[in-house]
Amino acid sequence: MSKKTVTVTDNETGKSIELEVLQPSCGTETIDISPLYKELGYFTYDPGFVSTASTWSKITFLDGDEGRLEYRGYPIEQLAEKSTFLEVCYLILHGELPTAEQLAAYEQKITRHTLPHEQLSKFYNGFRRDAHPMAIMVGVVGALSSFYHDNMDIFNPSHRIDAANLLVAKIPTIAAWAHRYSTGKPFMYPKNDLSYAENFLYMMFAMPTEDYKPDPLMAKALDLIMILHADHEQNASTSTVRLCGSSEANAFAAISGGIGALWGPAHGGANEAVVRMLTDIVESGKPLSEFIDRAKDKNDPFRLMGFGHRVYKNFDPRAKIIRKVCHDLLQSGRINNTHERLFEVAMELEKIALEDDYFKDRNLYPNVDFYSGIIFLAMGIPTSMFTVMFALSRTIGWISQWNEMMSDNKVRIGRPRQLYIGETTRDYVPIDQRS
Ligand code: CMC
Repeated sequence: MSKKTVTVTDNETGKSIELEVLQPSCGTETIDISPLYKELGYFTYDPGFVSTASTWSKITFLDGDEGRLEYRGYPIEQLAEKSTFLEVCYLILHGELPTAEQLAAYEQKITRHTLPHEQLSKFYNGFRRDAHPMAIMVGVVGALSSFYHDNMDIFNPSHRIDAANLLVAKIPTIAAWAHRYSTGKPFMYPKNDLSYAENFLYMMFAMPTEDYKPDPLMAKALDLIMILHADHEQNASTSTVRLCGSSEANAFAAISGGIGALWGPAHGGANEAVVRMLTDIVESGKPLSEFIDRAKDKNDPFRLMGFGHRVYKNFDPRAKIIRKVCHDLLQSGRINNTHERLFEVAMELEKIALEDDYFKDRNLYPNVDFYSGIIFLAMGIPTSMFTVMFALSRTIGWISQWNEMMSDNKVRIGRPRQLYIGETTRDYVPIDQRS
């Protein structure tokens, strides 16, 4: 079968070139524009990468129009119902679901590497007491390079898997310690008899002076949230990890860059922003309609946090799953009065927005962060830790995408072009002659 192509013609010179249309296993056909500059002398312009595939990948597929999300071909709904976070980590990293033996070995490996180098714990003292835990995450994860990078070769596949396992194992400890440091509580060391999610809750909330048993419902909810956030193809933070890694920087530096990119409210910071918005609404005592009107007003920068998504122009499939967990927690009595009111406001907002033409016309549905913030609150996780929770879950996606890129022997340093619209060449003016 002949290759599908599109023809691009320069109307000025009359020169035409054929560009190959690359075929995905599912999703949108993709034009290979790489010969464009050499053949026609043009760059392409696509702010926000709206129409540009920055890479090939075999890890995650999502169809924003259909609201479909799959890791390695497995629908998120099935993984959420039947799998565990560590099994999903294995799947994302290695490409296949593990056998029982493989899973047991993987779980053991992760559990036995949860302790960071003891000296790393001293890093925390260098941060201000009131430092945002995401600032601590960027710093401490970057600092892992100084402990573990020297023995690792980023071009050695088995070293890359070691780096991936090390990061997945240590990130909950690093994250929980960021919280403990800011509250002045002693660091809790992980316990090997606890599951991944239980261990995180233990390190967050246990005290050396008392027994602590993680709540099984909370641990299950956390495991599910981590599955839902594990990967999301080429989003801003993942693209940052790839771009950083493309310069052959080490894995820890690349992941630290990803954490920085995740921090902003348009990406991972949205769950924190959702709870702040809901709290503001409740505390203002003003009718919800006032906030809806503000969100629609183009002269007002206010947006409904937790609504809209760059790629889901239908319901975010993760939001559907997580919404149910929110209800389960509510029914179990785990959500106290303050949280209950926030949840009610969230439900009212969801209802109004889903019926309002402004939101309907623009396909603005609640996204996963709309609900995850409420669940984290119910778990007793402080608002400032919400984005850290996202980083903790997404580490497996970032490191697997980095590993996939580094396994490609055709990979080149990422180096976008630009459309320059600044001054053209001009002569230097001595300071005494400037007006
Ligand atoms: N509230 C009110 N209006 C909105 C909102 C919102 N949350 N989101 C988009 N719009 C409007 C926007 O004003 C624009 O209107 P118009 O066409 O009249 O100019 C239209 O919808 C399209 O918006 P956009 O900004 O072009 O869409 P985008 O794809 O560039 O932005 C987004 C996507 C997620 C940044 C944006 O929807 C947003 O800021 N949402 C709130 C923050 C949020 O919840 N972020 C979490 C994203 S999910 C987590 C993740 O995967 O990282």
